[in-house]
Amino acid sequence: MSDPERPHRKRKIALSAAIYALCYLFLLTIIFVMIIINDPAGWTTYLVEQFSDVLFLVISVFFLVVIVFFYYFFEDRETLVSMNNTLLIFSLFSVSAIICYLFGRYISPYSRPLALFALLSLFLLNRRQTIFLNFIYTFFIFIIDVYTNAYATTELVQEVYSTLMLGFVSGTLAVFFAGSVKTRAGLVFTGVVLALPTSLVVALLNLSSITNDWGLYLANIGYRMLGSVISSVLALALMPVFEWVFNRLTLFRLRELTSTNAPLLARLKTEAPGTFNHSLIVAQLSEACAVAIGENAELARAAAYYHDVGKLKQPECFTENQTGYNVHNELTPELSADIIRSHAKDGYELLLSNHLPKPIADVALQHHGTLPMKYFYEKAMRISGGEANIKDYSYVGPVPQTRIASIVMIADASEAATRALRDHSPESVEKTVRTIIEERMDLGQFAECDITMHDLTVIKQTLVDALSGVHHHRVEYPTIRFNRDSLREDKRE
Ligand SMILES: [Fe+2]
Ligand SMILES: [Fe+2]
Repeated sequence: MSDPERPHRKRKIALSAAIYALCYLFLLTIIFVMIIINDPAGWTTYLVEQFSDVLFLVISVFFLVVIVFFYYFFEDRETLVSMNNTLLIFSLFSVSAIICYLFGRYISPYSRPLALFALLSLFLLNRRQTIFLNFIYTFFIFIIDVYTNAYATTELVQEVYSTLMLGFVSGTLAVFFAGSVKTRAGLVFTGVVLALPTSLVVALLNLSSITNDWGLYLANIGYRMLGSVISSVLALALMPVFEWVFNRLTLFRLRELTSTNAPLLARLKTEAPGTFNHSLIVAQLSEACAVAIGENAELARAAAYYHDVGKLKQPECFTENQTGYNVHNELTPELSADIIRSHAKDGYELLLSNHLPKPIADVALQHHGTLPMKYFYEKAMRISGGEANIKDYSYVGPVPQTRIASIVMIADASEAATRALRDHSPESVEKTVRTIIEERMDLGQFAECDITMHDLTVIKQTLVDALSGVHHHRVEYPTIRFNRDSLREDKRE
């Protein structure tokens, strides 16, 4: 059987190969500019006289780019065909390499921020890709060293080989040390921690030179410590630039987006306080569910915070923001359904126009899937005498495309439904959440994402545990009414 997607996929891969080719030319250009900077007067002679060396350089960089291409081809085709990802990877290569070159040339080869690439890549891409890409990047820096620093002065051979060793050690350790970092301050601290093992590598590699020049030996160790700290400081400074240009979601950005001072949340708080409070609870629930099924908890929390921002367009049309007066009493059910339905799309557009990451906007668009709006459908059926079309009273979708969108969908409905419950016993909450999940399964809402039955069971239990707690009954106060007289001591006598 032929796959109809196949020609389309082939075209995408061919396109990404073309982008890789352009990135390759860009990397070569950077190296040639470095060669020119190193010897502005004699670089043309160098290129002519050392033609075989230059050819070797061109071929070496070609292989590095080809290896990256094949890595993504076999390991992660989705990343391969995404132009945004490819440009991000090569921008990280270029920017980190240029910074390393400048430090190496103008300060000391040991002061180069060799962990910069790994730290940026770890948060902007992921851990697995970073471990692989750091090896390629270290070879890239090594090639640059051989053809730029070594070309300028032949006494730097040891430094050139140190690069290879230090690049592997710094980058790989950075991935492990920064793996559990959750704050920007923690990232800087990673640089401080990295200073120790990397300077030890320098100390050991240079042991032979210890007797020649003590001062230089210690200076190199000091420079390496500085280089490690600079790596993390620069990663911290450059991260927001990459986050913004490539619209990436790092842990730090997600945390900032979930600060209640974030502009859209601040608006939600003042203009739609009911929705804001509802979103806070949905965020807590979604985060707990994400942790329970091994999803990205920070992303789930952020997506839930923003899932209903579309309600900002007409906050008074949504129950949670109404104080008595219900505008829908004066509207036809068709118009009401139109207004309610549009909050998903309005939220999506508002989030994208405010430059929020697409995964968060997607959740806003998908959190009601293609579910019917029962209340208005029933109202329409009543008024029209059974003539209403369910399609006119349903959300337009799409249905959740990710496990996180499914979590938010279930948490959202469960929060709203249990809020209305009088009995918040675990049994009653369990029944409500189970009905919500089963209804959505029946209506095919989870058909387009890879959520499993096991995930749904875990989500259900997490919600039951959390919601029986959130809406717990207060201890009933005695109905005795006190007055001033009843508190007078002499009354006891
Ligand atoms: Fe909603
Ligand atoms: Fe909601």
